[in-house]
Amino acid sequence: MAERRKVPGRPFLRLLLVGFTVMFSPAPSFAEDWLPPGSATEKTSNIPPEILRPGTAIDDRFLYGRLLFRSPEILGEKAVRIGLSCDSCHTNGDVNTDFHILGLSDRPGRVDVSHRFWQAGFDDGIDNPIDIPSLRGVGETAPYGTLKIFANLHAFTSHVITEEFGGPLPLPGEIEALVTYMNSFDINVLNKSDTHVKTNEDMSYLPLLETPLQDHDYAKIDELTDRIRADIGRRATALQQDDAIRLIKGLIDIRNKAAQNEYEEALELYRSLRQ
Ligand code: HEC
Repeated sequence: MAERRKVPGRPFLRLLLVGFTVMFSPAPSFAEDWLPPGSATEKTSNIPPEILRPGTAIDDRFLYGRLLFRSPEILGEKAVRIGLSCDSCHTNGDVNTDFHILGLSDRPGRVDVSHRFWQAGFDDGIDNPIDIPSLRGVGETAPYGTLKIFANLHAFTSHVITEEFGGPLPLPGEIEALVTYMNSFDINVLNKSDTHVKTNEDMSYLPLLETPLQDHDYAKIDELTDRIRADIGRRATALQQDDAIRLIKGLIDIRNKAAQNEYEEALELYRSLRQ
């Protein structure tokens, strides 16, 4: 905080004041406000294609993993503020060669992931930016990590989330889904690209809702509608505005119907949204 005037004996009052200032601050928060000027976290040009192993099943686990890979929430509060997800660095499973945060990167495509910027207390005290690796073919390159070594992708992914970025403890199903998604990344073999599945940016996550709607699993519906809405928000500029609005409204309606225990209506809304 810029101003640190003392209010003796009134810590609670001070806390309340800070709380109010934060709550009623009218300015929206932009990633740039939280990052040093000149930093770049999203890849906007020369976006690498997402290359999947031939025969990859686009099932619920794959889709959920793909969605989580693009969700800043799983990496914790700092990541949410700057809109940073796994995909910001490992874009489409490859490398964001433009990634650059002043003070953490010595050149684009490199970053210090053990710096107190990510999480106070986890600083290794060394200025050590390293190359962001491509995750193509990562399923076959165990063990993982440079600074700390992990035997498998499950353990490394947990480490990335909780220790590097200070995110909340992931659920086993979340790790499982992320690993399934990462295991589908194929190595880009030149001249053989036509045998690989290349996904497009607007892959829909709506199918994820079907099972929880049939199982009347409100907690899961709540989580998924929230994550999918956030994802649409992040891609709003790439989507047709009408489509984005229709999807977001539809997701809110589905969640509200489920909250009222009206699952038949919720399923109907879901089916019409998928058309
Ligand atoms: C700020 C950029 C950044 C973000 C965000 C990020 N990573 Fe990484 N990732 C790196 C860097 C740098 C390394 C190399 C560091 C190391 O090996 O410890 C790495 C290494 C990895 C590796 C090991 C690759 C190998 O071959 O050893 C995996 C797997 C991985 N990241 C997955 C993820 C996942 C999953 C997420 C999201 C939960 C994520 N990363 C988020 C920068 C990032």
